[in-house]
Amino acid sequence: MHFEINKEALKAGKNVISEKPLSLTYAEAKELTELSKKHNVYNAVNFNYRQYPIVQEMRNNIKEGKLGNINIIFGHYLQDWLLYDTDYNWRIDSEKGGKSRAVADIGSHWCDLAQYVSGLKVEEVFANIKVVYPVRKKPKNRVETFTNKMERVVDYEEINVDTEDCATILLRFENGAVGNLIVSQVSAGHKNDLFIEVNGSNKSMSWYQEKANELFVGYRDKANEILLKDPALMSKDSLSYSYLPGGHIEGWSEGMKNMFRNFYTCVLQRGNATDYSFATFEDGMEEMKIVEAILESSKQQKWIKL
Ligand SMILES: NC(=O)c1ccc[n+]([C@@H]2O[C@H](COP(=O)([O-])OP(=O)(O)OC[C@H]3O[C@@H](n4cnc5c(N)ncnc54)[C@H](O)[C@@H]3O)[C@@H](O)[C@H]2O)c1
Repeated sequence: MHFEINKEALKAGKNVISEKPLSLTYAEAKELTELSKKHNVYNAVNFNYRQYPIVQEMRNNIKEGKLGNINIIFGHYLQDWLLYDTDYNWRIDSEKGGKSRAVADIGSHWCDLAQYVSGLKVEEVFANIKVVYPVRKKPKNRVETFTNKMERVVDYEEINVDTEDCATILLRFENGAVGNLIVSQVSAGHKNDLFIEVNGSNKSMSWYQEKANELFVGYRDKANEILLKDPALMSKDSLSYSYLPGGHIEGWSEGMKNMFRNFYTCVLQRGNATDYSFATFEDGMEEMKIVEAILESSKQQKWIKL
């Protein structure tokens, strides 16, 4: 649906914010990106994790070279809402959600975040994907995402599933840094457990989305630190992403607000999109390339270059 709707909006000369992933295929994403260039309109993909205050702090530290050379980037994005074979959602149907599910839906968030905070592009992937339930029980009544299906008695039909529930992925980044990522929608107890760690030659930094206000800073030669989100303690460039004093939690809602604020500011100022921190259609297109490379790698069981 993103593809058709975005396409019509672009053709009408509108600036567009699209939900992620940008489309079902790389080819569609490329078409949208080209169309947005042709119509010279602003475009964004809602990879909102970029917009958290602590993520900005992490990125700014890396950008200023404080971590040193980046050697390793690793993490996970784990959920549990599809843990049982009785869990069903439109995302499971490859006609509606695309050939990739867990990787395209949440792995794309992690890959965008990894590339954004490190400033490094993924160059190569080696993946192993798994469909935990090749057959799921689809309720005959409609179910919205993340609702508690346990409470309902439903009539269901058995359907074949060809989209992955989980994946393990090795990564190589453009500077030679290595990485790995675990993506899952069947990990009990994990809700939106996105974690990312970057190991540099001077120090490490890591962040849990579910502890959005804490930045871990790891040292070899002195005690580690945890920076609690606090405008008084953050670097100048991260400040505009935080609205509240230290001790008041900021997270998903502020990230979303920042995403829209930055897009609208860019449009109103007729700015250069790359200066406003949101993901563009070009980034969304790159994500689709990564998703397709991951599927291909798992199929061929070898490294795939992007
Ligand atoms: N950026 C993020 O962090 C984030 C988080 C969650 C979801 N998403 C994205 O948001 C999108 C929606 O996901 P969701 O989990 O909210 O799905 P959902 O199934 O919970 O909700 C989709 C809604 O769209 C409505 N709908 C379906 N067809 C429609 C139509 N033709 N016209 C009008 N309304 C229609 C449905 O009734 C439903 O209320 C997806 O693209 C998903 O990837 C992004």
